[in-house]
Amino acid sequence: MTDHPFGSAIVARLDELATITDVPGQITRLYLSPAHRRAATLVESWMRDAGMTTQLSPLGDVIGRYEGENAGAPALIIGSHIDSVRDAGRFDGTLGVATAIEIVRRLHRDKRRLPFAIEVAAFGDEEGVRFPTSLAGSRAMAGVFDEKTLDETDRDGVLRRDALKAFGCPQTGVAAMKRSRDATIGYVEVHIEQGPVLEAKGLALGVVTAINGCSRGSVVVTGEAGHAGTVPMPLRRDALAASSEMILAIERLGSTHPDLVATVGQITVPGGAINTVPGRVEFSLDARAPDDARRHALVADIRAACASIAARRNVSIEIAMPYDIPAAPCDPSLSHALAQAVARCGHEALTLPSGAGHDAMSFRGALPFTMLFVRCREGVSHNPAEFASVEDIDAGARALADFVDRFGAT
Ligand code: GLV
Ligand code: MN
Ligand code: MN
Repeated sequence: MTDHPFGSAIVARLDELATITDVPGQITRLYLSPAHRRAATLVESWMRDAGMTTQLSPLGDVIGRYEGENAGAPALIIGSHIDSVRDAGRFDGTLGVATAIEIVRRLHRDKRRLPFAIEVAAFGDEEGVRFPTSLAGSRAMAGVFDEKTLDETDRDGVLRRDALKAFGCPQTGVAAMKRSRDATIGYVEVHIEQGPVLEAKGLALGVVTAINGCSRGSVVVTGEAGHAGTVPMPLRRDALAASSEMILAIERLGSTHPDLVATVGQITVPGGAINTVPGRVEFSLDARAPDDARRHALVADIRAACASIAARRNVSIEIAMPYDIPAAPCDPSLSHALAQAVARCGHEALTLPSGAGHDAMSFRGALPFTMLFVRCREGVSHNPAEFASVEDIDAGARALADFVDRFGAT
């Protein structure tokens, strides 16, 4: 018998999901990949065993439903995601899904029905690693899915719509995923913090106030390829040297205020060779801020800085930032109820913003939502070293279960 049966049951599910990967030796489960498919099948079986009816959404999400006292009652959606970044940790996204399933399994075990239904959403497209945009499933539930994104391609040229077909998703029904205000109470997500604040304060749990907005896109720098042995340095139009200067400018601009962040996470030199002056470079750009005006100002400053470096170095530059996710404040009344549940479970309820993006932010303006953060070690995430303790996971699950129970009582 363990001291933390709730947390241990969740950790057992996380351990099982961690074995499902496209790259042996890592956890790599990109959206609509074979590993994502196997994970979706596993999660669907867990949901059924926990007393839920299940469906695979047209966008590759697994959605389970546990009816309330009366069939068809409005639903509280509890969710997170089961896709991962490359070489990920085992908690990002999966923690929220496993916690939600375990909460429903306990209700089912105890033969309890609440005055509302619970829907558990295991979204598939949170990380945005494979296609240029992300959050397809949660955006569809919020009624703001953009059909044009079905024509996006991954880096191998595979269309999102073809990847969905291969995953076994119907090509219709996206509009029907939208949850109405009448039929839905709100959305709540448990997630590891992915930052160091809770650990620094010595607290297990935090209630999220708002999720920072995010701009994402790509930069293409074009100079002129040449022979590394013959083109004199002053005559070069080196796209990689120019990009390096731009990346340092992006880092500097992202550092002008503690609330801002700007990241270049990918860079490629197409056709690059040891003996060729780089003629073309492509790099990614991700910029975030708690409010949209400051985020847009940051992107504008980055554009201006890169353009001036390009002009000075006689290279051309194209910056495309098609992906713009606004900052999303959590619902004060749901957050308050969650904070009270945290306190009832004997924990201090610190409130904090989320620097990372989450499916919850898709519901901005559509449904009330809130999030519960669980402390993780040294704030490490998107890294195999990601870790949250069974004690903290147990605390998060008990707080969310208490929130759900109290919700049922009001
Ligand atoms: C998802 O993890 C994101 O914030 O990019
Ligand atoms: Mn996540
Ligand atoms: Mn992530």
